[in-house]
Amino acid sequence: MAPIATGNGHSNGHTAHANGAEQRVAAPVNPTAARHEDLISIKVDSPHVKYEDDAIISQYSYRDTHVNVVNKADGTTEYQAKPVTSQYQFKTGRKVPKTGLMMVGWGGNNGTTLTASVLSNRENLTWNNKEGLQKPNFYGSLVRASTIRLGSDPVTGKDIYVPFGSVLPMVHPNDLVLGGWDISGMTIDAATTRAKVLDYDLQRQLVPLTKNMKPLRSIYYPDFIAANQEDRVDNILPGSDKQAHLDQLRTDIREFKQNNGVEQVIVVWTANTERYSEIIPGVNDTADNLLNAIKTSHSEVSPSTLFAVACILERVPYINGAPQNTFVPGAIELAERHKAFIGGDDLKTGQTRFKTALAEMLVNAGIKPLSIASYNHLGNNDGHNLSVPSTFQSKEISKRGVVDDLVESNALLYPRASKNSLPSKEIDHCIVIKYLPAVGDGKVAMDDYYSELTLGGRNRIMVSNICEDSLLATPILMDLVLLAELMTRITYTDGDSANAEESYKTMYTIMSLLSFSLKAPLAKKGREAVNAISRQRNGLANFMKGLIGLPPNDDVLLESRLW
Ligand SMILES: NC(=O)c1ccc[n+]([C@@H]2O[C@H](COP(=O)([O-])OP(=O)(O)OC[C@H]3O[C@@H](n4cnc5c(N)ncnc54)[C@H](O)[C@@H]3O)[C@@H](O)[C@H]2O)c1
Repeated sequence: MAPIATGNGHSNGHTAHANGAEQRVAAPVNPTAARHEDLISIKVDSPHVKYEDDAIISQYSYRDTHVNVVNKADGTTEYQAKPVTSQYQFKTGRKVPKTGLMMVGWGGNNGTTLTASVLSNRENLTWNNKEGLQKPNFYGSLVRASTIRLGSDPVTGKDIYVPFGSVLPMVHPNDLVLGGWDISGMTIDAATTRAKVLDYDLQRQLVPLTKNMKPLRSIYYPDFIAANQEDRVDNILPGSDKQAHLDQLRTDIREFKQNNGVEQVIVVWTANTERYSEIIPGVNDTADNLLNAIKTSHSEVSPSTLFAVACILERVPYINGAPQNTFVPGAIELAERHKAFIGGDDLKTGQTRFKTALAEMLVNAGIKPLSIASYNHLGNNDGHNLSVPSTFQSKEISKRGVVDDLVESNALLYPRASKNSLPSKEIDHCIVIKYLPAVGDGKVAMDDYYSELTLGGRNRIMVSNICEDSLLATPILMDLVLLAELMTRITYTDGDSANAEESYKTMYTIMSLLSFSLKAPLAKKGREAVNAISRQRNGLANFMKGLIGLPPNDDVLLESRLW
């Protein structure tokens, strides 16, 4: 890989000429990167919240409705609904720890782009491209670039919004300490060039900051990813002893913490999509079997699962940003046992994000989608890896299930033959992904939504979404990290046990509140995943408001409806 010149000899656009001399002018910090948490404070005047030096304590009344569906002998159905309220006390730690982010697949397109995003914002770099002078920001990040409706002004009635990231104390991405592993040993400056995502002028300025960043050696079990990845493999842990590999990953995490003085580490899998692991009784179906399978180096334990186990045992949150079934039943049981945090699967970036918004809109408007055909072509290394059937299948599964809950939600459009049966006719849904090297990171997604209207009418919405894949993905990866860290600082008591310090519990192992950013969100056993994007966002935003003693946004807005 040809190195990039690092010289700053020519003007890069952020210079002013005073008396013939070049002078650097600092660009104003974009609002999404500004430390708005230092500029904005939210003070809640409510008996439901108490601010202590190190924690915010809120009384949370969780309201829902329990429904008993009674199918009567005469063929009618009665929905017996009962409002229920459960009381909780939540405690959110106010001290944001120094946090490290370790990426598995650091040298890939997402890993290098996320690194560039943090560094260019941290240093407030400016660069030129054909559009002119560019400034860094965190556009595309739910946490850094979106807002939450806090309430309304009692005099004018105007809605008041605050930055999402200022509702509770959260890590600022500029403060993340970066590191990680890759089976390719390229330093991050060269890997950034290889990725072909960023403008040259930005790449050039990042070199001094990234040339000494070298991924740690990782584990490579060739059977799990496409054979076409073999060329980049030159940075791997030796041998095939999976227990030794696990031990090394745990050591890596501990050393990273120690060497960088970080109190918390979040690990994300942003490495190649793996094939699905087979779920084999006695191998990966329980926590003990999985630990034993690692000891005996069983062939069906994947690298991503081994990373998950390392993180669970080290009690650091682990997020799977790819579609494979990393969280085999044994891994979930192990995480529950250690009260560790896990989240996944797969990032919800372009096509699927749009789909979970558009399909939700159609079904909730009473229009009946009959089919959704989704075509993609992309030319980056992710596309290359997905060009073989085994890894494509992982992606297909994670993309396919995203409208199931919508179909389930509307038995008028999708009737069931009987109460317990599945909808009689689901949406025909096909996913195609093709590797087209020429388009590089500019993934093209084309969707055809074909729906039934009244009186036999048909509606067709055809959408073409030209993404910059990694630039869409990295703010989302970052959100997952910031939110996962927040989850580790939230504890709660329920019912009568309130106020007893020792009875505070951590949140449940699977961080399903992160699902806004995930294509195939993991759910607690016995509970269904929510895919519809507005429900995901409302759930998270309302929970955050609840943690500071505020009611959820229900958009009833009686002020506008009553005399
Ligand atoms: N970019 C997006 O829009 C998007 C959206 C959803 C999901 N994803 C998923 O995110 C992942 C990363 O995407 P990308 O575009 O950065 O891919 P990429 O191929 O550019 O990067 C993956 C990196 O992982 C490394 N790698 C592979 N196996 C490894 C292992 N066992 N240990 C450590 N490193 C390993 C590779 O060497 C490579 O550098 C993919 O699985 C992709 O499907 C990406």
